[in-house]
Amino acid sequence: MDKFRIHGGTPLEGRIAISGAKNSALPALAACLLTEEPVTLDRIPPVRDIRTMIQLLEHTGARLDVDGELVTVRAERLERPEAPYDLVKTMRASSLVLGPLVARTGKARVSMPGGCAIGARPINLHVSALEQLGAEIRQSHGYVEATAPQGLKGGLVQFDRITVTGTEDVLMAAVLAQGETVIGNAAREPEVQDLADLLNKMGARIEGAGTSTIRVQGVDRLHGAEHTIIADRIEAGTFLIAGAMTRSDLVIENCVPEHLDALVVKLRQAGAEVSLEGSSALRVRASSRLRATDITTEEYPGFATDLQAQYMAMMTLAEGISFVTETIFENRFMHTQELGRMGANIRVEGRQAIVAGVAELTGAQVIASDLRASASLVLAGLVARGETVVDRVYHIDRGYERIEEKLARVGARIERES
Ligand code: EPZ
Repeated sequence: MDKFRIHGGTPLEGRIAISGAKNSALPALAACLLTEEPVTLDRIPPVRDIRTMIQLLEHTGARLDVDGELVTVRAERLERPEAPYDLVKTMRASSLVLGPLVARTGKARVSMPGGCAIGARPINLHVSALEQLGAEIRQSHGYVEATAPQGLKGGLVQFDRITVTGTEDVLMAAVLAQGETVIGNAAREPEVQDLADLLNKMGARIEGAGTSTIRVQGVDRLHGAEHTIIADRIEAGTFLIAGAMTRSDLVIENCVPEHLDALVVKLRQAGAEVSLEGSSALRVRASSRLRATDITTEEYPGFATDLQAQYMAMMTLAEGISFVTETIFENRFMHTQELGRMGANIRVEGRQAIVAGVAELTGAQVIASDLRASASLVLAGLVARGETVVDRVYHIDRGYERIEEKLARVGARIERES
């Protein structure tokens, strides 16, 4: 099991290039199941979750050519419209094939995701949304089995609560449904917009992606297309936070600055300087101790829950007491115990973590528990006095492309041990 060995205390300097967004690449790959023609996607990040999704598409019968970040999917015949347990258990986002498989083949059998470290994460909202489009769904033996022998029919889908992959799942089903579908209380994440852009290039008729109400006019079939995935705003945000907490001067390039507005406002309030460098780069500078600044995670365009752990790592050294409130997942504070072992002073009360800034963190042996918690431990290691060893870094490899190489290139003392 790989580990990272990190020696803290060196400021970072230079430029970091951002990869394509994992959370946009995953639905985009699933969308390729909607047509028998080839779809080519560029800027697919070579991370573990993507490899899992590629395995899953091949399991259904699609054929894929992978050339670095360029992936072509040919879903001419889908012999096995199913997502087996052994793949779904490693990646919850496998449920993204549910909508496309039902829409394309009239049936789907998808293992229900187990819970995961950050919460129960059921897919009940995905299921009820697809039922609104006429899918008949039953659950047995740990699987969701959906059928739509006469095809799906457009309808009104109103989500009880905002769900990113739930919105994406039903959007991919609606594009081949008969008639109009209106999706209410839809997720507004940039990754939803990116998926709609791809689907429209494939011949879909979608309006309103990126707003709370998405309208879809169903079409009979979709055709092939080429599409480049948007930059990963969570990776970019992670490195902006790294630059601020290590008191560095760092340029984050090939990103979409406006996707990071909520974080940039907070970094500035905390005392870091963040400036635009052209249209696709942000520069972060900090030279003194940051000020405690509260955050509450919310659906986009609010503060991203996927940046909460990383931001908390930064607040452990800030001047004063900050309140970190997590409203999206019920158990996304696992990183607090490990940060505590490095000297952080954090108290968790329900959905709120109270972080009292300390003068320094000390390096320690820590264990990663989930993707973003492991990123927060790496960031803490960059500023802690002495050596930090982060174990189980396979969590971080799920969503970050060679993070240790990107950080080492700007001066961090970090190396991977297999
Ligand atoms: C997406 O997960 C992201 N994953 C997550 O990123 C991200 O944390 C999350 O959105 C919130 O922004 C991908 O896009 C692949 P949700 P998703 O459905 O869609 C509850 C990462 O680090 N819910 O928006 O699974 C759910 O339990 C990952 O890259 C139901 O109750 O999240 C959660 O509390 C982690 N029933 C809330 O809604 C459902 O049917 C929001 O979840 C669906 C969700």
